[in-house]
Amino acid sequence: FFAGMHSHMLQSAGSVNQADARKLNILYGSQTGNSESVAEDVAAAAKSHGLVPLVKSMDEIDIAQLAQMEYVLIVTSTYGEGEMPDNAQILWEDVSADDAPSMEQIKYSVLALGDTSYDQFCQAGIEWDRRLEALGANRLFERIDCDVDFEEPAESWISEVVPLMAEGAATTAIIDTEAQPAKPTYNRKNPFPAKLLVNRLLTSPDSSKETRHYEISIEGSGLSYEAGDALCVLPTNCPELVADIIEAIGCNGDEDEPVNGELMTLSEALRTHFEIKLPSKELLEEIARRSGDQELNALLESGDKDKLSDYLWGRDTLDLLLQFPDMEFSAAEFLALLKPLQHRAYSISSSGNMHPDNVHLTVASVRYHSHDRDHKGVCSTYLADLVDEETEVKVFFQPNKIFRVPDNDDVPMIMVGPGTGVAPFRAFLQERELRQAKGKNWLFFGDRNAATDFIYREELEAMQEKGVLSRLDLAFSRDQAEKIYVQDKMRENGAELFAWLEQGGYFFVCGDAYRMAKDVDKALHDIIAEHGKLSEAEAADYVNQLKKDKRYVRDVY
Ligand code: 2AM
Repeated sequence: FFAGMHSHMLQSAGSVNQADARKLNILYGSQTGNSESVAEDVAAAAKSHGLVPLVKSMDEIDIAQLAQMEYVLIVTSTYGEGEMPDNAQILWEDVSADDAPSMEQIKYSVLALGDTSYDQFCQAGIEWDRRLEALGANRLFERIDCDVDFEEPAESWISEVVPLMAEGAATTAIIDTEAQPAKPTYNRKNPFPAKLLVNRLLTSPDSSKETRHYEISIEGSGLSYEAGDALCVLPTNCPELVADIIEAIGCNGDEDEPVNGELMTLSEALRTHFEIKLPSKELLEEIARRSGDQELNALLESGDKDKLSDYLWGRDTLDLLLQFPDMEFSAAEFLALLKPLQHRAYSISSSGNMHPDNVHLTVASVRYHSHDRDHKGVCSTYLADLVDEETEVKVFFQPNKIFRVPDNDDVPMIMVGPGTGVAPFRAFLQERELRQAKGKNWLFFGDRNAATDFIYREELEAMQEKGVLSRLDLAFSRDQAEKIYVQDKMRENGAELFAWLEQGGYFFVCGDAYRMAKDVDKALHDIIAEHGKLSEAEAADYVNQLKKDKRYVRDVY
């Protein structure tokens, strides 16, 4: 019935004068492709309401084009500390400038994707929403801010805004029964129970760091992945930490509590369902209220995020509960103050074409001593402490449509990935080896000490011998008195690096967002200015063009 209906309806829709059909501009700012895929969902819904959807990434349009638009839906994620995603930065600069044109004719709504575990939650979406309003645009529907589980709020936003955008449009509805793009079968709510096959220490036992190599079997899942994708792991909390927290709040752990409509003991709930390592804002406020502690109350009232994060540095929920007397909670009271336990995403370090049944991860185990206790990161040590005897790990994929090996096998790739930032580049090199790609590959790698932290050394050297890795430049920061970082190695080889870019080269960065990626970005600008004999502004344009061409892409965290 639908198949027949479909062709009939499409024909009648085709007879609608295209000029009458209302265009809906769907603009996305995406770092990993989530916003892009939501934008595609919006387009599918728009079609079925008789609209003509035009999906564009923000760097595909300029401000003059934006100022001409009438119906605009914006879907944007936030990157790092409240920044615009890479492909929204250029348009944003123009839109936020003092001389930006009026946008009075625009009718719009914003969907913001974000992560509440970051301070500047959904900041990019918030700024777009405010700026468009300030420029006179008409908000047709309130912005929705989504946490990492964005699917449901995104769907509800779509179901509200699309009909509003279509209201009064002079078109007949097109019933679009075309198959929707298949959603992944496994997701956060329904993760795949994979088997952990390998858990191996990569750094030397006497290193100041602990970085591990994992191989996780996805055999039988029907799942596949590409070099550049991430694997999300659903951890459970450390049982000792759970027990200590239960004692600190004066419970015994056997209390039965409903969680998502299911009864479970407090101790099971804390182990499998809630974030217990870092305190939620609600828990912090309650602790401040009960304790009456002046320092904490003053910090929370001041709203000074930097000071608060200094205060919380190395201090977890248990530290806070132990710090103040009388922190007794009933099981229900305590659970109500916690956030649900989240998955952690790791950049995959294998090529899905070379290893279709296994996913490799390269993860630094977070362990540190502070406030007189040993602390450990939730998911990295959950993995580290698992035995590799086919132990079950719950996983699902997070595709990255942007951070990918170029389709063109002949173009050069420059990869900057110190520490565990090397992970996706190991995958990229495997992929290029498999494809027998002719393009040159250059890796900048580094860490603290060569003797203990040169992970994948044999593999990388073998890649060099095979000619897959054309250049390997190393920066071991603590092997000598003065620090040497990857960006120093870039500068030393600036002429050649610029030459590779001029040959159509791609520039990839993976790893620490706050220090490394910023300094690497600066070095890239300086190198382009110096060796391209360009002014600072011209070098910035050159870098912007690289971003627009998706030849400067980052996977930073
Ligand atoms: P450091 O800790 O000795 O200062 C991986 O963590 C590597 O990144 C380490 O060698 C670390 O050096 C280095 N690193 C620290 N800050 C950096 C920065 N701003 N830019 C690049 N690398 C940095």
